[in-house]
Amino acid sequence: MNNMELAGKKKLILISGRAHPQLALDIADQLGISLLPTDARTFANGEIYARFDESVRGTDAFVIQSHCTPINEWLMEQLIMVDALKRASAKRITVVAPFYPYARQDKKSRGREPISARLVADLFKTAGADRIMSVDIHAPQIQGFFDGPFDHLFAMPILLEHCRAQLDSSTLTVVSPDMGRVRVADVWSQKLGAPLALIHKRRDPEIANQVSVHEIVGEVEGRVCLIVDDLIDTGRTIVKAAEALKNAGAKGVVVAATHAVFSDPATEILQSDFIDKVVVTDSLPIPEEKRWDRLEILSIAPTIATAIREVFGEGSVTGMFDGAA
Ligand code: R5P
Repeated sequence: MNNMELAGKKKLILISGRAHPQLALDIADQLGISLLPTDARTFANGEIYARFDESVRGTDAFVIQSHCTPINEWLMEQLIMVDALKRASAKRITVVAPFYPYARQDKKSRGREPISARLVADLFKTAGADRIMSVDIHAPQIQGFFDGPFDHLFAMPILLEHCRAQLDSSTLTVVSPDMGRVRVADVWSQKLGAPLALIHKRRDPEIANQVSVHEIVGEVEGRVCLIVDDLIDTGRTIVKAAEALKNAGAKGVVVAATHAVFSDPATEILQSDFIDKVVVTDSLPIPEEKRWDRLEILSIAPTIATAIREVFGEGSVTGMFDGAA
C-alpha cells in the first residue's frame, strides 16, 4: 500500500466528555475500539480545558456527551472538545448528544421567550460540528435547527421489545401522558396491537415543573396502562398520570421512557404505589442512589454504536428503524 492510498483511508475515533463515561465505554466496546485518550479538566474558576493525547488529523470524529446535571457545564465541555477537534484538523466531526440539551425550549410559547434548542444547534455549528446524532429528541423539528445532517435515533425498538416480552398485549392500553406524545404513543399502540388512551395534562406557565391532569380520553378501566414518554424529569407528569389512571380503574401502570433525567424529587415520587414499573434507557447516567427495585435500565449503547457504524461506513441510519418514527 503506498502513501497516497494510506492518506485516503478513513479512521473513526470516539471521544467522550466526562458526564457519562460508562455509556461511551459501552459504545466503544460495541464498536470494538478504544476511546481516544483525552485530558479534560475544570480549572478552579470553572473554566474547562480539553486536549487529545493523540493526533486527530483527518479523522471521522464522534464526540459523545450525555447532558445531565450540570447540563451547562457538560454542554460547554462538548463545545470545547469540538473546537479542539476542528483546530486539530479532524476531517468530520459528529456531536453525539443522546439527550439533546434544551430540547423542551423548541418554540416561543409566549412573547419574549428564547428558542434555546435552536441556540444549542447554532453553538454546535459554530464550534465546528458537521453533524449531530441524538436519541428521541423532544420535538422532531429540532432536526431543522441544525444546518447539516441530523441522525435521529429511536429507543422505541429496545423499549418495545422489552415491554412486549414482559406484558400481555391483550390486557394492555398504551397511554400518552400529554398531547405532545400522541403520535409516538400511537405507533406503540399499533406495534403492540393495543388500544390508545390520552391524558390531557396542563402546566402552569408561571411555575416550572408543575403539572395537573384534566381528563383521560380512552378506555383504561381493568387495563394495564403502558405510559410512554420521551423523558422523565421531576417525575410529576408520570406520577400524576399514573394516579389518574389508577383512580379511573386501571389495574396496573407501567412506564417506558427514553431519558431518565430524574431531577428531584423524581426517584422518590416514582416509587409511588400508583406505578408498578418504570423502564428507561441509560442515555443519561443513573447513579446508584437514584435506582430502586422497580426500575429497569436498558442499554442504548448498541443503538448508538450501530448508528455510528452506519454513518462511518456510509450506510443507512433510517434502515435501523423500521417505521419507528
Ligand atoms: C413533556 O412534554 C415531556 O415529554 C415530559 O413529559 C416532561 O417534560 C416530563 O417532566 P416532569 O417529569 O418534570 O413532569
